[in-house]
Amino acid sequence: MRATAVACANIAFAKYWGKADPWLNIPAVPSISLTLRGLETVTTVELDPALEHDEITIDGELISPPESKRAVELLDAVRACAQSRCFAKVLSRNNFPKASGLASSASGFAALSVAARAAYGLPFDPVESSRLARRGSASAARSLFGGYVELPQGLPGDDSLAARPLYPPEHWELRLVVAIVCEQPKKMGSRPAMEQTRASSPYYAAWLEHAPKLAQRVREAIAKRDIEALGHASEASFQAMHAAAWAAEPSIFYLEPASVEALHTIRSMREKEGIPVFATMDAGPQVKAICLPEHAEAIAQRLSNTKGVLRVLITQPGPAASLIESPS
Ligand code: PMV
Repeated sequence: MRATAVACANIAFAKYWGKADPWLNIPAVPSISLTLRGLETVTTVELDPALEHDEITIDGELISPPESKRAVELLDAVRACAQSRCFAKVLSRNNFPKASGLASSASGFAALSVAARAAYGLPFDPVESSRLARRGSASAARSLFGGYVELPQGLPGDDSLAARPLYPPEHWELRLVVAIVCEQPKKMGSRPAMEQTRASSPYYAAWLEHAPKLAQRVREAIAKRDIEALGHASEASFQAMHAAAWAAEPSIFYLEPASVEALHTIRSMREKEGIPVFATMDAGPQVKAICLPEHAEAIAQRLSNTKGVLRVLITQPGPAASLIESPS
């Protein structure tokens, strides 16, 4: 039994930061993202009765515990559902570099959940796969769907939480221009960073209060295809998230000098040249510019000429996760 699935990365306009339930990985705030065409993980899951444990290879590298723990837990959940005891070989490939600062965990867990369910003989079910992927990495729950996607906040113990599609990719032809400023692995993973923010940031309570309002502004802006409203709400979301993390003790600070330069480039294009372009950032130093297709090239050009920016990628709305090979 063998199945292969593909899933794309996503970037959130309204950020998820903080857990209502750390064991089930349930977000404490709603998040809204765009799935990105071309930034893909392709994953094959093959059942092998001769194996004594799962064997997981990512980009040619065999991974072992603790790195493989969350993927094995996902496979355990699928095995429980399929009433199987058979271990699997997992081969996963990203077409974007792991160190590029773009989260491969979102596309990775999304592709794994689709391929694993199919390999174990379970029917294709994006909602069920989204729920499974959420346990691996909450942002991965959003990569099951194409275009504009929401992952609602959840309640402790509510393991049924999954993402839901808001609009298909064609709803709005936005562009996200990614400025890569650092190719080292990130300083601190989102999981411990969220926990440190919760445990010690004086602004965590304010973030929990504010984030749903920002998500509502993002939702309305996407519905109306209003770039100004989306841009301002997205900037407010990443800034509040980073501010809460920055105020933790010890402080979590993801920006590099080149991130600050790129943020200035974006703000200056907007304020001095009147181009509707807005920034967002995740748990790392890369800066992503949100803009309309007609401005993407000029923004990419200016960001690549910004001090410290190593490379620039132009991305666009992408499709849902899908099966590309099912068991015969
Ligand atoms: O799903 P995780 O644990 O990788 O956390 C993602 C956190 C952010 O990327 C910062 C925000 C988001 O909503 O994607």
